[in-house]
Amino acid sequence: MTTQWWRGAVVYQIYIRSFADGSGDGVGDIAGLRARLPYLQRLGVDAIWINPWYPSPLEDGGYDVAGYRDVDPVLGTLAEAEQLIAEAHAGGLRVILDIVPNHTSKAHPWFRSALDAKPGSAERDFYLFRDGRGRDGELPPNNWTSVFGGPAWTRVPDGQWYLHLFAPGQPDLNWAEPRVRAEFEAILRFWFDRGMDGFRIDVANMMVKDPALPDLTGKVAAPGHHPYEDRDELHDIYRRWRQIADSYSEPRVFVAEAWVDDQDRLALYLRPDELHTAFNFDFLTVPWDAAQARASIDRTRHALSAVGAPATWVLSNHDVARHLSRFGRPPHPQGRGIRYVQLSQLAQCPLDIELGTRRSRAAVLLLLALPGSAYLYQGEELGLWEVEDLPDDALRDPTWTQSGHLDRGRDGCRVPLPWSGDAAPFGFGPPGSTPWLPQPPEWKKLTAARQEDDPGSMLQLYRDATELRHALPALGDGTMRWLDTPDEVLAFERGDGFGCAVNFDADPWPLPDGATVLLASGPLDDGLLPRDTAVWLCGGRTAGNG
Ligand code: NOJ
Repeated sequence: MTTQWWRGAVVYQIYIRSFADGSGDGVGDIAGLRARLPYLQRLGVDAIWINPWYPSPLEDGGYDVAGYRDVDPVLGTLAEAEQLIAEAHAGGLRVILDIVPNHTSKAHPWFRSALDAKPGSAERDFYLFRDGRGRDGELPPNNWTSVFGGPAWTRVPDGQWYLHLFAPGQPDLNWAEPRVRAEFEAILRFWFDRGMDGFRIDVANMMVKDPALPDLTGKVAAPGHHPYEDRDELHDIYRRWRQIADSYSEPRVFVAEAWVDDQDRLALYLRPDELHTAFNFDFLTVPWDAAQARASIDRTRHALSAVGAPATWVLSNHDVARHLSRFGRPPHPQGRGIRYVQLSQLAQCPLDIELGTRRSRAAVLLLLALPGSAYLYQGEELGLWEVEDLPDDALRDPTWTQSGHLDRGRDGCRVPLPWSGDAAPFGFGPPGSTPWLPQPPEWKKLTAARQEDDPGSMLQLYRDATELRHALPALGDGTMRWLDTPDEVLAFERGDGFGCAVNFDADPWPLPDGATVLLASGPLDDGLLPRDTAVWLCGGRTAGNG
């Protein structure tokens, strides 16, 4: 692989607490992950991205970090982390870790010192403490609300308030404070020095706030001037981070988690002296619809071509409902960001697992054929669905409580993986262990072991696709050309003679004369591409079949 491996890599996301449990305490850990590295190699991915593994009181699944230079004892030790990196590298896998710079945990020593210190002290300056409004300061300093629901401010015993755009246990850092900047630069080096290949930057678009912390007015702010989203000053931070990444002999990389609606604004993060890539949430939020998928692909490519950055393609992650469940329903208003179908809507849109599976198979062939890098979320290769009936008392996502029990949150996509066997824990942990979220009994049909030797399984499709992707120079980074097709079919060519066609919702579509089928997501119908099916082709030209 070249040093620009990230331009075309397939990256597999490990939500570590739900991947594999080596210790038997019901929580996935580094030991479990190390034992499953051969599975990942066989899956044919190029890199793994691991969600936060730092010490954490778990008020937001580990995105509340109490110490950035260590590993939570439930997940392992720093020494095990180093072993994991070494073993992954030996097996040809790069490793990317999450970094959480917008906020810490309230258990972080900085926040504890800030609470012990007085209003106006240097310790409080690490965070955004302010006096309240109202006669006795009893009202929050402004009208901002938390992403998880409820006010974005919590009052401390001496009367001041602190800002938390997420859970109260996640105080926002003050990025105007040079000590915060210096500390994060040191944290990057700490992990880079241990061989970490890159970072996924959490909430990369919200770290910098308008110093005046003004109320939100409801009016659309001028680009770069929203009180806390996508502010122009962020780019100075990333220019500095890029210099650090580039100072390593094998340059390290960044992928931004930035829910920025305007693709041209998002592209600014990816200028050559800033971040390498950003998740393509525009594409992730597209329903199963040819026109919308095509428009998103075009928007992405157009915006990124201005800065020379590769696209990333992603269907699922730990914050959104699994795509099998999104695609296995009639189109519904899908929420932005971490939101999903509201509880009240679920009953009206029952999930059709067969339909969702068929479309998910087609979707991954589209994903892996598009130019750029692709992100897979653990379990999608097994065809897992969103678990929508977790018992209320099992739910851990702060969204559930902060929304006043209106939004069940994201636990349904974080249920521990089924590896083998006929009953829970399905090989996730040793027999007799109890996974931290209950697994549906129906997942016995979807275990990795069961799919292992089934040529028609989802797992096998993923393996076939990554194998071909490595074998075909046309795939990965590069360009594509749309072909002329009916509206409900998308087809494009890459390189010299590779073609991908997806029938979203049209009558069976005749494959081009002379084309050889390299891979199909489902059965073809005598040279016709049925609805909800995708195919990879070589030779022949798809043009003119419209
Ligand atoms: C985005 C992460 O992906 C999500 O899981 C987390 O809750 C928020 N950022 C806050 O850190």
